[in-house]
Amino acid sequence: MSQFQTLIHESDVPENGSVAVEMEGMALLVCKSAGDLWVVENRCSHQDQPLEGGRIRNGYIFCPVHGMRYKLANGEAVGQLTSVPIKAFDIRVEDGFVQVARTE
Ligand code: FES
Repeated sequence: MSQFQTLIHESDVPENGSVAVEMEGMALLVCKSAGDLWVVENRCSHQDQPLEGGRIRNGYIFCPVHGMRYKLANGEAVGQLTSVPIKAFDIRVEDGFVQVARTE
């Protein structure tokens, strides 16, 4: 059974936006679009740049550096620059708080 760690209240994540957080030294990004929430690693697999600030639309985030697109549900890379996915985390929302499954 997974253990979950609280990251942030969902009301603190803007619609079609993201908030960078840390969990045990890992840089994560909590993303929201159309009321759905996702947590992915805050690192583009193309050139290791932060995804924070990238445009979020229809369940995808666009890297703000060169525009790679990643599917927030599973981290799948879409674009010409890399086929390496980013890590996407299992989450749940408890009393409005976004919680991520720990990887231990
Ligand atoms: S660093 Fe993200 S697309 Fe190049």
